[in-house]
Amino acid sequence: MGSGNVQVIQYLVDTRPLWPKATKTKDLENEASRALALLTDEEKTKVLRYYFVADAKMSLASHLLKHWVVARYAGVSWWDTKLTRDEKTKPVYVDPTTGRQPVAFNVSHQAGLVALVAVAGYSASGEAEGEGRGGSEVDIGTDVVCTSERRTRDHRVIDTEGWAKFVDMHADVFGRSEARYLKGGDLLSTQPGSLPSLARAQEIVDFKLRCFYALWCLREAYVKMTGDALLAPWLKDLEFRRFRAPAPGTRDGFGGDGGDGGDGDGDEGREQEVITDHEVLFRGERVTDVNICLRSLGEDYMTCTAVRTPARKEDALGWKLGPFAFLDMETVLGDAEARLG
Ligand SMILES: CC(C)(COP(=O)(O)OP(=O)(O)OC[C@H]1O[C@@H](n2cnc3c(N)ncnc32)[C@H](O)[C@@H]1OP(=O)(O)O)[C@@H](O)C(=O)NCCC(=O)NCCS
Repeated sequence: MGSGNVQVIQYLVDTRPLWPKATKTKDLENEASRALALLTDEEKTKVLRYYFVADAKMSLASHLLKHWVVARYAGVSWWDTKLTRDEKTKPVYVDPTTGRQPVAFNVSHQAGLVALVAVAGYSASGEAEGEGRGGSEVDIGTDVVCTSERRTRDHRVIDTEGWAKFVDMHADVFGRSEARYLKGGDLLSTQPGSLPSLARAQEIVDFKLRCFYALWCLREAYVKMTGDALLAPWLKDLEFRRFRAPAPGTRDGFGGDGGDGGDGDGDEGREQEVITDHEVLFRGERVTDVNICLRSLGEDYMTCTAVRTPARKEDALGWKLGPFAFLDMETVLGDAEARLG
């Protein structure tokens, strides 16, 4: 049986207001020196290599969050949270003494937001840590998208080339039936919260783009869960049939009080639409072992988390993937410094 002390963790860091005096990436060396001091030399170099400071900030937060989740939820001292990659290149933490992954995690960043999802304390057999099978017993992936980040460019392409061409430009990463559905006449009528009958052309394009990004978010979370990411030779065999885009949330509904373990119901339902029932096919067979939760976040963002426990599929299927809670950078830095060992 599955372990009883499972923690499902979902946090977001909004990097946009952080280190406001850093207008160039190089400025972070001073402005974010406290945060950078918590990374390895290799990680620091990666962060400071970004051309745009906004990307460097997301990368910095991402590195911190990966170390933070391992330090905090596996009780590892900060400099022992050595992150490596598994055989599929997915970032992981492997306990050097047991060979196990006490915390399975994944991150995603876009348009200033960094999402972290993780599962700690899970063992399919219920055995104490160190006695179970090696590696990870949980596969987890996440994605955050922002429908407006490339809006001007998306609209320009669609205006000049047409919607079908826009979809086709990305068709190689979609499943067999998906591009057809996005381009087909059913799209507008089969989505919930459909457009008013007198919607203007721009509104129709925004609506279609929202469907497109919802599918993107679902697929990315899934492929990142498996660890294969875009190298997955089976990308075409994965199909989200009649997927739905969650309705936009309210601007001031940006957030929620997900809390530790994602147990808090917070503002769920009031501020954001949550979609957990999806028809997913893999090589034509229905996928029944993955818990997938797609949420709107504010007006323009969406998040998706996908998780499975291969040895006992009912465990992950029973986990509530609650709203993401916003995490303060001060909390992360304070926790990290307290665990420097
Ligand atoms: C690299 C990839 C895993 C995610 O890329 P992305 O969408 O640009 O970025 P995200 O912000 O969602 O995720 C980046 C994080 O994924 C994680 N990641 C890297 N390789 C991974 C893998 N093999 N499996 C799971 N997660 C991985 C990393 O932690 C990375 O963040 P970090 O570098 O700060 O540590 C991959 O799926 C990709 O290249 N995607 C491109 C987008 C695309 O074409 N999507 C089509 C829809 S299927």
